[in-house]
Formats: sequence, C-alpha cells, structure tokens
Amino acid sequence: MSAPAVLQVSGVSKRFGGLQALQEVGLTIGPGEVYGLIGPNGAGKTTFFNVITGLYTPDGGQFMLAGQPYEPRTVHTVALAGIARTFQNIRLFAEMTALENVMVGRHIRSRSGVWGALLRTAHFVAEEAATAQRAQSLLDYVGIGALADFKARTLSYGDQRRLEIARALATEPQLLALDEPAAGMNASEKIQLRGLIERIRQDGCSILLIEHDVKLVMGLCQYVTVLDYGKVIAQGTPAQVQSHPAVIEAYLGHASTPKTSPTTSPTPTPVTPTQGAGA
Ligand SMILES: Nc1ncnc2c1ncn2[C@@H]1O[C@H](COP(=O)(O)OP(=O)(O)OP(=O)(O)O)[C@@H](O)[C@H]1O
Ligand SMILES: [Mg+2]
Repeated sequence: MSAPAVLQVSGVSKRFGGLQALQEVGLTIGPGEVYGLIGPNGAGKTTFFNVITGLYTPDGGQFMLAGQPYEPRTVHTVALAGIARTFQNIRLFAEMTALENVMVGRHIRSRSGVWGALLRTAHFVAEEAATAQRAQSLLDYVGIGALADFKARTLSYGDQRRLEIARALATEPQLLALDEPAAGMNASEKIQLRGLIERIRQDGCSILLIEHDVKLVMGLCQYVTVLDYGKVIAQGTPAQVQSHPAVIEAYLGHASTPKTSPTTSPTPTPVTPTQGAGA
C-alpha cells in the first residue's frame, strides 16, 4: 500500500464579509513533494495558509494530515500535528538572537513544562542544552550557523527568511508551508534557497510553496494549484498549468491592473520583524 497523502484538503471556503476569499478549494500533497500554490495578488493563497495552519477559522472544509483527520483549530495544535510555516511578512522575535528564535520553535517539542523551567530542574537544564544544540544544527542546516548570536533584526533580509525556515523546521514538521520565501531575495540568495528547499524535501519533509517567481516554482514543484479570486482554476504539473488557458487569462487579465504578472516578482515587503505568530 502506498503512503497516505501528507496533506489532503477539500471544500475549503472562507468568507470575509462580502468577499469570498476561498471557495471550495482542495489539494493533495504527496510524501516528498514540493507543491506550488500560485495565483495573482489577492487570489487567496495566504488565506489558504492561514486556514490550514489554524490562524483563520474556515467556513467549511475537510482536512487530513498523513491519513489522519485534523482540525486546524489553533496554531499550536496544527504545529503539534506536523505543519510548520513561514510568513509572507517575516515574523521573528526581533530582539532575540537567531539561536533563541529557533529555540522558541523547538519548545513545542520539549517536555519540562512551566514548573521545570521555574525550578530549573536537572531535566529542564539538560533539555535546554539539547534544545540549544539542536537549534544550532538547524541554523547550520539553513546556512546561517555563524550568525547564531546575532539579534534577528540585524540579519539581512535573505538570512531572516532562512532563520524563519530554521524556526519552522524546529517543530519537526511533516509539511513545511512557505509563503513567498524568495520575496526580496537577490539572484544568488534565490539559488541558495532553491538548494535548501530541495534538500528539505530530500530529507523527508513535504513542502507547500507560495511563490510569485515562476522560474522557481516551475523548477522546484512537482504539482501546482492555481488560485484566482479564491477558486482553483488549474491543477497539474508545472507544464500543464503554465499552458492552461484559464491561467494565462487570469494573469493577463490581472496584468492590466497593478497586480503581479506570472513573470515578475512582487515588490518586497519591508522587513518589520514583530513578535508572535500571525498572518
Ligand atoms: N483578515 C482579512 N479580513 C478581510 N479580508 C481579508 C483578510 N485576509 C485576506 N483578506 C482578503 O482576502 C483576499 C485574499 O487575500 P490573500 O492575502 O489570501 O491573497 P494572496 O493570494 O496571498 O495575495 P498576495 O499574492 O498579494 O499575497 C484579498 O482580497 C484580501 O484583501
Ligand atoms: Mg499572500
């Protein structure tokens, strides 16, 4: 029997007042896949991430993770279930070091609890040392090991994005959801990012990727879903969706408005590192 899909969602809808941000969206991500989620600005991509990771309550939808039903009710339960994410607008603890930022992600898997921390029990101290060690190896893994002691806010834009990936990986996810990880990166940073995503996939973690850089999407993804105005307009291999008339129409239609065409990257959002989770 083949392994179950890592993520299988169907019928996901989300309305904001009069705006139908998602309408009956479904997709299935297989083990070891990099799966692309693309579409013009405002198509509903980030909203979909927010729903599957428990930030927004959907109006409807079915959710399965590794063959088990899961309810994306809170960010914490979703992280424990095995989905981790990064944010379109980077969200780091700006005044904490890179190492501490990753340790925060790791704490979801620690067991000492509040009393252990307050009393600094032997178990807590040992666990904290192991957490720091693991965080350092994750920083090495994403290529910023030498920056462990630098405050997050002092890191370059590209390094902050890699730090977010390290923090997400610290939760030991089965699925890593990346919301525009290449936004604001230069060409060589993008090449490094591509290598990193490929390596994460090879190491057994599936990836759901929102990205405007079509070259990156087409080079990395096995399957792609295209959203427009909250609806799935195409699904298939990169070659299939790229030549799909509805996709061409959606992007050309949007190109007459100040929105993103499939061949351009969006203007990078300025880095405003904030504390805590959010969209
Ligand atoms: N919390 C919210 N309240 C009201 N409307 C929202 C909210 N979040 C998103 N929207 C709206 O839902 C639609 C989809 O937004 P979303 O951020 O998911 O798009 P996107 O595909 O990620 O776009 P982009 O490529 O620009 O990041 C937009 O019209 C947006 O204004
Ligand atoms: Mg978005």
